[in-house]
Amino acid sequence: MIIHNLDSSNSVLNHFISEIRDVEIQKDSMRFRRNIERIGEILCYELSKELDFSDHTVKTPLGDKIIPLVSDKMVLCSILRAGLPLHQGILNYFDKIENAFISAYRHHTSPEAFDIKVEYLASPSLDNKILILADPMLATGSSLSAVYEILKTLGKIREIHIVAVIAATEGIDHITSQFPENTHLWVATVDNELNTYGYIVPGLGDAGDLAFGNKL
Ligand code: URA
Repeated sequence: MIIHNLDSSNSVLNHFISEIRDVEIQKDSMRFRRNIERIGEILCYELSKELDFSDHTVKTPLGDKIIPLVSDKMVLCSILRAGLPLHQGILNYFDKIENAFISAYRHHTSPEAFDIKVEYLASPSLDNKILILADPMLATGSSLSAVYEILKTLGKIREIHIVAVIAATEGIDHITSQFPENTHLWVATVDNELNTYGYIVPGLGDAGDLAFGNKL
């Protein structure tokens, strides 16, 4: 796993991270979604520096200019439902990316024990494409590894970039053991603790509920 932790240097990203964690500001779900979207934009801007580019000639009114543009074929797959604002942030920058959606939820067998259920998938072929996998909260890493087991049947993926907002070190260790070695992880910040319910501490709480409201 090639880990890119963007909070290793200070930037305006800190402001967005501090707002999504803040229990008072979290009451404004529109602001929460928009901040996740802004973080997605920053993460995918950094990610874009690792992509392949090829020269294109642009005609201005006064002449020609050669500009390298992204040449990779890419699919953006988000894990429903919490991944949706992050998905939008990445879409804001990658105009031509194809889209995939997969659902993964924790099916609790007790308050502290769960397995991951994957029930919905809509995806183009992933053959010879870059897969960007968006999941805002990388906690145990079990959702990511469960969806990867399914996605890898959809073609020979060229390279995987996982995009997360907050990652727990335990989850990073888990996905490192499950994904190919050349997989990139782009994360806005890392927390060291998971509680007994598998939530990131201090984290921010439940990203899906904060973005879209409580569920039963
Ligand atoms: N999902 C969340 O939304 N938050 C966590 O802390 C862990 C998983």
